[in-house]
Amino acid sequence: MRERFRIYGGARLAGEVAVVGAKNSALKLMAAALLAEGRTTLTNVPAIADVTIMAQLLRSLGVDVDYDPDSGVVVLDVPETVGHRADYRLVRALRASISVLGPLVARTGEADVAVPGGDAIGSRGLDLHAAGLEALGASVHVSHGYLVAAAPHGLSGTEIRLEFPSVGATENILTAAVLARGRTVIDNAAREPEIEDLADLLVGMGAQVTGAGTSCIVVDGVEVLKPTTHAVVPDRIAAGTWAFAAATTRGDIEVLGGRADHLRAPLAALERAGCTVEVTGRGFRVAAGPGRLAAFDVATLPYPGFPTDLQPFAIAYNAVASGSAMVTENLFEARFRTVQELARLGADAQVDGHHVMVHGVPILSGAPVESSDIRSGAALVIAGLVAEGETLVSGVHHIDRGYPRFEEALRGLGADVSREPDEDLWED
Ligand code: EPZ
Repeated sequence: MRERFRIYGGARLAGEVAVVGAKNSALKLMAAALLAEGRTTLTNVPAIADVTIMAQLLRSLGVDVDYDPDSGVVVLDVPETVGHRADYRLVRALRASISVLGPLVARTGEADVAVPGGDAIGSRGLDLHAAGLEALGASVHVSHGYLVAAAPHGLSGTEIRLEFPSVGATENILTAAVLARGRTVIDNAAREPEIEDLADLLVGMGAQVTGAGTSCIVVDGVEVLKPTTHAVVPDRIAAGTWAFAAATTRGDIEVLGGRADHLRAPLAALERAGCTVEVTGRGFRVAAGPGRLAAFDVATLPYPGFPTDLQPFAIAYNAVASGSAMVTENLFEARFRTVQELARLGADAQVDGHHVMVHGVPILSGAPVESSDIRSGAALVIAGLVAEGETLVSGVHHIDRGYPRFEEALRGLGADVSREPDEDLWED
């Protein structure tokens, strides 16, 4: 059943909210468990729909997965022989399924992974993933909608320079290289904290990896890996979402478990705009100053730059800030779906190629809107909090993919938000 959020605007969010492990790390760590026979345990795993889908995919490969959303623990019992085909039905539901590619080629010498279709934020190719595996000695081609990779005699380490620091390609090359013969050097690697988290897991499994978190990762292949226990790194995008929620509603939120050092660019921008940002013993706190905060320009970049995943929140923030701002999207070609929905709420924003020009207005005006992906959905909810009257945000299943019990967390901070069935004209 489709659901929507009903929001009454006006509250300044205040109080404490906790973040748990990062979606975009947990999914990759689950896939990496394939590399070792036996029981790998992950803790601090978020209670989100994407984890359930990844568990289904791993089960289809023969892994016994025990996922308890309440405790945030996933136990993956990997058999000696695992399957190698990631079905389209599951990959279509979860693009991050592509992260089984590296572990499968490394562990079984073959992988057939359905090619995910384009999604709401751009075409997102896989050329760098394929080229990386080919450099390691695999043959890779696309057949009947599947990326088919084979390395019957194993992989061999080499030097790989990525044209672009792709997160997914860095991860797949890293998880393939850990069982390759000899040394692999990944140059111009992505530096996201989730890559470091993956490398930490791999080292815990007995892999030899150095340099993760920098642009040069060095991997010395080993013959076999062993299972381990690992806590997922806190979700910096969820933490950043709360930072923007505090600023946009002119509130005061302490983000328990949030890592300010993983959010340097966005927190510095919020500070310049008039917020107080403080690292506390339990996380960090963002408190808006009096009056309207200043609009600020944003240009998304790979880590440690301003994250593309926080871009929709920056647009929602600027929509009610004082002054005008240009938001530039440099990573994904079609990630401005929030803008047309924000316009329905009375935002003054125009898209021009990969830029959006936003002129702040004092208040938005509640209306029904539709979320098209995780982040745009959550950003529309925050916009609804600074809209006069009632806002209905449809497409809540997108938000559920990334934010565990979002409306409960918002209510805990004083928001008037409820979840209800969505009316669907096609159901009659
Ligand atoms: C990850 O996607 C995240 N997803 C995204 O979060 C995030 O927006 C993105 O990294 C950037 O930080 C997951 O971790 C599951 P990329 P990923 O490879 O790995 C192009 C969310 O909402 N590219 O760094 O797919 C690509 O088209 C999601 O949580 C190629 O051209 O990101 C894009 O323009 C949305 N060829 C750019 O690089 C390739 O082979 C960045 O992609 C690979 C990528």
